[in-house]
Amino acid sequence: MKIAFHLFLHFSLLVLVSSYGGNGYDPLENALKIQRSRRTKLNHASKEDITVQETHFPFYVGPQHGLKNFDKISALPGQPAGTDFDQYSGYVTVHPNHGRALFYYLAESPVNSSTNPLVLWLNGGPGCSSFGNGAMMELGPFRVNADGTTLSRNKHAWNNVANVLFLESPAGVGFSYSNTSITNDVQTAKDSYTFLINWLERFPEYKTRDFYMAGESYAGHYVPQLAQLILENNKITNQTVINLKGIALGNAYVDDETANTGMYDYFWTHAIISDEIHKGIIKHCNFSEGATITDACSDYQYQAYVAQSNIFFYDIYTPLCSPFSNSTPSISGFDPCTDNYIQAYLNTPAVQQSLHARPVLWESCNDFINSYWKDMPFTVLPVIQDLMASGISVWIYSGDTDGRVPVTTSRYDINKLQTSVEIPWYPWMHQGEVGGYVVGYQNLTFVTIRGAGHFVPSYQPARALAFFTSFLEGKLPNKQ
Ligand SMILES: *[C@@H]1O[C@H](CO)[C@@H](O)[C@H](O)[C@H]1NC(C)=O
Ligand SMILES: *[C@@H]1O[C@H](CO)[C@@H](O)[C@H](O)[C@H]1NC(C)=O
Ligand SMILES: *[C@@H]1O[C@H](CO)[C@@H](O)[C@H](O)[C@H]1NC(C)=O
Ligand SMILES: *[C@@H]1O[C@H](CO)[C@@H](O)[C@H](O)[C@H]1NC(C)=O
Ligand SMILES: *[C@@H]1O[C@H](CO)[C@@H](O)[C@H](O)[C@H]1NC(C)=O
Repeated sequence: MKIAFHLFLHFSLLVLVSSYGGNGYDPLENALKIQRSRRTKLNHASKEDITVQETHFPFYVGPQHGLKNFDKISALPGQPAGTDFDQYSGYVTVHPNHGRALFYYLAESPVNSSTNPLVLWLNGGPGCSSFGNGAMMELGPFRVNADGTTLSRNKHAWNNVANVLFLESPAGVGFSYSNTSITNDVQTAKDSYTFLINWLERFPEYKTRDFYMAGESYAGHYVPQLAQLILENNKITNQTVINLKGIALGNAYVDDETANTGMYDYFWTHAIISDEIHKGIIKHCNFSEGATITDACSDYQYQAYVAQSNIFFYDIYTPLCSPFSNSTPSISGFDPCTDNYIQAYLNTPAVQQSLHARPVLWESCNDFINSYWKDMPFTVLPVIQDLMASGISVWIYSGDTDGRVPVTTSRYDINKLQTSVEIPWYPWMHQGEVGGYVVGYQNLTFVTIRGAGHFVPSYQPARALAFFTSFLEGKLPNKQ
């Protein structure tokens, strides 16, 4: 049965397009499956998982003079008239000898750009593009129209309240390139840090600006690890001090045990699997670190996988993108075929040219990076605990219709973080409706976004922007 499960998954991955927003494509599950089987094989004794890291202290800083002007985007093909903010994109070299350069896209604010904070946004995967998914599907200023050639303005874009920097990370993802793919957490954090200190030389006006980081899914690893590296380097180097104020983790994969337990409990409480399957999982599966996944457990996991049937479990109530019929609009109005439009748009030569990108086949996720990821700590909760005690603000947010890294998982994570409630659970209000729920913990804020799936700003753009604004203001979302 276990073999059948693997074959089945393998087969389903082969026949599906690797498009992040597409039904059936599940990069996080793919990476975790490989990672978990490796953990079992190594039986935790071996350190083979942890690749030897190249250290490059002090971090590389290359000449940046004049590059900002070069990176300015005059206009994206098909962008609507009246675009009233500045956009930049291009490459920052992070390792000249290995030909490694990371691609970024900066969307500045239309108003108050010179005082609004700078926010780094990261998508997960691992291996998925922050520009294609984050900017063009979720929170950026534009959405690609169904024609694949024109753009429309996203009213609830996050650059309304911040200057948002989308980074394609690690090298090999999206437009970022390298002669050698980066497939581990540690090097990803180092390269992202090197990117930031170089980028700040290119855009020196941001050096002292309030800086935040946000990301979702596997960025639950990237964001805390990069935050920790920034705080360490702020102390020990004579390089740029990065004015890190806070992080926000959305539907984040931060602990492997809660990722499993929270997901199956969510499936059961959301009527996706039967009582029998749920009981079987509870009885036979031990998901804690070091435990072995038995054949009986595998069998129930397989049953749970099959029981879901054909739903998009990154947003369980959303319609699917169907080539055969006009999709019924989803509750949120989000077009489930969006990812196809993005794929078409970003592979248009004129678009790549306007972005100063190398001509490549752009893909929303890099399957090689995703499948060959090497070091993946079982949990990053200890890193998050350090950040909580460091004084920066730490927010965990969750779209409550995501089945991939569901709200139950985030609640189990918070339980493991062992903090205490300061402001008890209350509904937060937006435009006269409940936007979600909030709990203020010691050094941690938890916010749900009601009716949003994994890609929170795609499904609930107005609520997502309200939450994000609160996060930047350091105030809990409104009670009224
Ligand atoms: C990386 O690839 C580029 C393009 O093929 C080449 O010019 C460069 O020398 C390579 N760098 C290394 C370190 O191999
Ligand atoms: C711009 O900043 C001013 C002063 O802080 C503030 O009153 C105004 O609301 C801001 N406008 C926007 C659109 O953020
Ligand atoms: C930073 O410190 C290193 C090592 O002490 C030194 O070599 C380097 O010149 C310093 N850089 C600057 C910009 O002061
Ligand atoms: C699950 O596995 C862990 C690690 O091997 C072990 O300490 C724990 O007792 C197990 N839990 C149960 C309920 O068997
Ligand atoms: C919160 O931060 C304070 C100050 O750094 C620290 O002493 C305390 O242990 C932290 N508590 C939690 C639960 O993180």
